[in-house]
Amino acid sequence: MKRQAKRAIKSALRWATQPHVTVASLHSQLESLGLRKGSCLLVHASLSKLGFVRGGPATVIRAILEALGENGTLVMPSHTWKLTNAGSREFDVRNTPSLVGRISEVFRQRDDVVRSLHPSHSVCALGPLAEWIVEGHENAGSPCGAGTPYAKIMDVGGQILLLGVTLRRNTMFHAIETMANVPYLLKPHDDEFTVTDRHGVQHRLRFRCHAKAVPSRFDEMERLLEEWGVLRRGKTGATESRLIEAARLRNQLLPLLKRIPRFLLMDCDVGVDQPSCTVSRATNA
Ligand SMILES: CC(C)(COP(=O)(O)OP(=O)(O)OC[C@H]1O[C@@H](n2cnc3c(N)ncnc32)[C@H](O)[C@@H]1OP(=O)(O)O)[C@@H](O)C(=O)NCCC(=O)NCCS
Repeated sequence: MKRQAKRAIKSALRWATQPHVTVASLHSQLESLGLRKGSCLLVHASLSKLGFVRGGPATVIRAILEALGENGTLVMPSHTWKLTNAGSREFDVRNTPSLVGRISEVFRQRDDVVRSLHPSHSVCALGPLAEWIVEGHENAGSPCGAGTPYAKIMDVGGQILLLGVTLRRNTMFHAIETMANVPYLLKPHDDEFTVTDRHGVQHRLRFRCHAKAVPSRFDEMERLLEEWGVLRRGKTGATESRLIEAARLRNQLLPLLKRIPRFLLMDCDVGVDQPSCTVSRATNA
């Protein structure tokens, strides 16, 4: 009861003090940010950072879908790595909730959305490429590398929207780390899981999961990504959002990570501004 009352007060305060976000206002701000019609878009989002969203998560989802148009594909993470990290070895694609935000959970619950079969890094997708995006995630050999939805989004020249969140939430960094074969990301062994597919059929499958996270400097990459011309920032409601060109990010970062495998980590002795990064700057397309 106390919790409900606190929520109601928080909500009333948000309504009274924050900008009001509607489908039309968000749609227009996403277009200004550079979201392309027909894009294949991966979205990491925070609802509360946007201000007061009239209609809640459904409004955000509608605004993005309208901005993408009918040829666009919307992809959202429905990650459950908090469960696998805590020792869970079960995943049901039909009803294991997304643990990465309210918007992703509301998106997951739509009847027209499909979800990939992965115990820690599943995604949900809607649009012409949706089935292809989610297909085969369970056989990819890593949560984010080749054959996963993340790699496919880069392959088709898609975009990444960080809606009210920073680069810290950019799972695509893990996709590129996997492709560069960095030595710290994956566990040295597979784990066996019971996964239940969309038809209710159970499978015993082995997955190579991420190892315990190493402190990264994802947020520090912002200036470099802007210099490369792969990231733009813009206003969305009460907050700032970021839009990234996925293939161009890979084209810039992958060679750099192959040369300096710890480049994205806090303990890397090569500064983000040091000359070894300028090779990539010079080759920016
Ligand atoms: C963790 C994270 C989701 C937290 O963001 P958040 O805004 O606090 O939480 P949500 O997006 O789940 O939104 C729910 C909150 O929105 C707020 N809210 C509720 N209705 C709202 C409305 N109409 N308008 C605006 N805010 C509202 C409430 O504070 C609610 O929190 P509560 O349920 O505890 O009261 C966010 O910081 C984040 O990291 N998002 C990206 C996650 C991701 O993609 N991760 C994958 C890579 S690690």
